Amino acid sequence: MSEETVKYLLSEREIPTHWINLLPDLPGELLPPLNPGTLAPAGPDDLTPIFPMGLILQEVSGEPQVEIPEEVREAYKLWRPTPLFRARRLERELDTPAHIYFKYEGVSPAGSHKPNTAVAQAYENAQAGVKRLATETGAGQWGSALAFACSLFGLECEVFMVGSSYDQKPYRRSMMETWGATVHRSPSTLTESGRSQQQHPTGSLGIAISEAVEVAASRDDTNYSLGSVLNHVCLHQTVIGQEAMAQMAMAGEEPDVIIGCVGGGSNFAGLTFPFVRRVLRGEAKTRFLAVEPAACPTLTRGVYRYDFGDTVGLTPLMAMYTLGHDFVPAPVHAGGLRYHGDSPMLCGLVRAGVVEARAYRQNETFEAAVRFARSEGIIPAPEPAHAIRAMIDEAEAAREAGEARVILFGLCGHGNFDLSAYDAYLAGELEDIEFSEQEMNAALARLPEAPAIA
Ligand SMILES: Cc1ncc(COP(=O)(O)O)c(C=O)c1O
Repeated sequence: MSEETVKYLLSEREIPTHWINLLPDLPGELLPPLNPGTLAPAGPDDLTPIFPMGLILQEVSGEPQVEIPEEVREAYKLWRPTPLFRARRLERELDTPAHIYFKYEGVSPAGSHKPNTAVAQAYENAQAGVKRLATETGAGQWGSALAFACSLFGLECEVFMVGSSYDQKPYRRSMMETWGATVHRSPSTLTESGRSQQQHPTGSLGIAISEAVEVAASRDDTNYSLGSVLNHVCLHQTVIGQEAMAQMAMAGEEPDVIIGCVGGGSNFAGLTFPFVRRVLRGEAKTRFLAVEPAACPTLTRGVYRYDFGDTVGLTPLMAMYTLGHDFVPAPVHAGGLRYHGDSPMLCGLVRAGVVEARAYRQNETFEAAVRFARSEGIIPAPEPAHAIRAMIDEAEAAREAGEARVILFGLCGHGNFDLSAYDAYLAGELEDIEFSEQEMNAALARLPEAPAIA
């Protein structure tokens, strides 16, 4: 057997003790969320009907780090630390001098990075005496993660699952139900929001969010839980990047470029923010590449404006790149990337030029995912297949340049429940659905009244 290491592993004692908060290091002026009625900065009072105070304080914290509660670290032990792999077989197959590393979050019970925040959110809600959580799920990964986390902390869980994913991934529903959750196909007829969106039978993350927020706002015993976008979600995910940093040090290498897929921005934030902080502090010169679907190109074609986080308009307004809150993206298989907006923190970094963004069509992402699966074994979820496509392009660029660049990417979930998408790809039946500029422009014309951003 060769001396070549493939997996870099940490012990349970090395699970991070703190989450990293990038907020105090962000360049430029902070654009606060706004109350959509008064257009004044949204304060804790705007959020208390649906979030516990513990999470609200994390959302607005200006501290550079936040301690991880002991109970959450105990729960993390069920799958953390996650492995960092060197993709040596793929390097040989691509005949590239690049060194390719990936941080694999698919080892969690739900199969993705989502439990990193789900357990933290379920814990804070349980501490606050909340009995039930309502949420949306796109790919089914977030709903599974929250169902799992609720089962750990004795909470009920109600999930609105985006219609197209509900149809494509029946076993994700079974998984959620196994952990005790109740799952509805969205748009449902159970909420006012769902009833108003029946003309979009495939649903969207924005619609499912409206349904879950409505339930949480109308029931005293129920809070809302979001799987991406918000500051506290990005914060919780920074365990990924901190571990990856320690593992890259074990490998004796520094990444030249770090790549991740972006739906709302949380896995990208989790992997990159600890590294971004070093760049913002002048301690490193890493490139960051955010990858999204061409069918939902928020960072590459959206406008930077204040917009709602959901379709119906129930949330505070956030400054972000957006395609328009009621833009309904085509039902691509990367359901977790079908979101009209993105994390305000990540959008600020893209706007400041710290993070680059790129979009790919779904056939080219599945081609890359299959290539990856055939050399590294793991079948990726359709979402990180976007990061894999970009990683292969970067590795090929390194070959052209004759440079041994170090590439790190986030393999944020496995695709074992996404095989209907692989079936369609292998049968040559996967469509590259055109992004409709016209529909985006129509949605942008309906953006809410809000102060212009300089
Ligand atoms: C496996 C996977 N990756 C990525 C995403 C996108 O979300 P985020 O950008 O918050 O990581 C999702 C969302 O559901 C997902 O399930």
